[in-house]
Amino acid sequence: MKVSMINLGKKYEGRENFTIRDINLEIEDRAFCVILGPSGCGKSTLLRMVAGLNSITEGELYFGDRLVNKVEPKDRDIAMVFQSYALYPHMTVYDNIAFSLKMRKERKQVIHHRVLEAAKVLQLEEYLYSKPSDISGGQRQRVALGRAMVRKPQVFLMDEPLSNLDAKLREQMRIELVRLHKRLETTSIYVTHDQAEAMTMADRIVLLDQGNIQQNGTPSDLYNRPANLFVAKFIGSPTINVFRGTIQTGQFVSDSGQVRIRLNDRDQEATRNHDGKAVYVGIRSERFLPETSLRDGEDAITATIDVIENLGKEQSLVVKLPDNTELVMTMPGHLHFGVDEAHAFGIDPHALHLFDGETEVRLN
Ligand SMILES: Nc1ncnc2c1ncn2[C@@H]1O[C@H](COP(=O)(O)OP(=O)(O)O)[C@@H](O)[C@H]1O
Ligand SMILES: [Mg+2]
Repeated sequence: MKVSMINLGKKYEGRENFTIRDINLEIEDRAFCVILGPSGCGKSTLLRMVAGLNSITEGELYFGDRLVNKVEPKDRDIAMVFQSYALYPHMTVYDNIAFSLKMRKERKQVIHHRVLEAAKVLQLEEYLYSKPSDISGGQRQRVALGRAMVRKPQVFLMDEPLSNLDAKLREQMRIELVRLHKRLETTSIYVTHDQAEAMTMADRIVLLDQGNIQQNGTPSDLYNRPANLFVAKFIGSPTINVFRGTIQTGQFVSDSGQVRIRLNDRDQEATRNHDGKAVYVGIRSERFLPETSLRDGEDAITATIDVIENLGKEQSLVVKLPDNTELVMTMPGHLHFGVDEAHAFGIDPHALHLFDGETEVRLN
């Protein structure tokens, strides 16, 4: 089921300002859409509007062609999984999963079939007759998913469903959820504040900040062509390196004068109207080049190594420029670097993200 939001806005009673506003979004049928953003930006508010748990202050919400602004949650044909998934402690896994179907007075046979089907997909078959207290956190979360799944909703809503799990389990569950979605093909809206989770799971990411959509695109769009400085900084780990400076005849010159980067033709064209004006340059950590890969005449910056974090296949170097600016660079793991050593590093000329110094909007 396609979900469309037109100028959707929410102002909570007693609040002076809108919590979210002007949300325009189309979520394609069968998509896995992740709503991402920092804590407090309005993700849950938006999801709860889709669920019908929050009233809509302005705008329109459609499921397919049906306007659902005023439709009761129970009539929306949605299922929602929350961060804290309260299972009924006295009931077995089976009964927990079956609960909503029993409430709907489905036939026993139908219930049994659906519960077994969900248990199989979620690998809970062995635990159907256990109580929640006898199974692990990950299994409990799967029960919560099963409970939502058996209802065969048109739209599946998940609000940070993995954030109570430990790191390892969270990674496993991400993969399981993606698999589950491939199988069920239910339109899904998944809320998280974790950019890595969003990057690995989403067909599309909608990045929210302060109640506004900052960018709506594929994970690759957000990583490789962030629409503004906020997106650039929010997506990616380590965080993108940012310099502030000015454009001076085809060059970026940092405010301290320590960093000069020649712009390639495309970037020069993109900053044609910015000569002498303030800009930000963002460079992701993996786009610095080790000295050994520098070609003759290529620009280099010299930096002193402050901290080395070796992860085996790669290493993160925290380095300092002469003006004390800190940068993080990712280098192949096999290269040798020592703390306090000074090294020259190149910058891939096609790796620059240029943003307007005032509006912070992408220029190139
Ligand atoms: N029921 C409510 N009444 C008033 N303000 C609320 C209510 N629920 C959330 N808010 C406010 O709305 C803002 C967004 O909250 P929320 O949607 O929960 O953000 P997120 O899920 O992105 O962390 C916060 O400032 C929060 O305090
Ligand atoms: Mg929330």
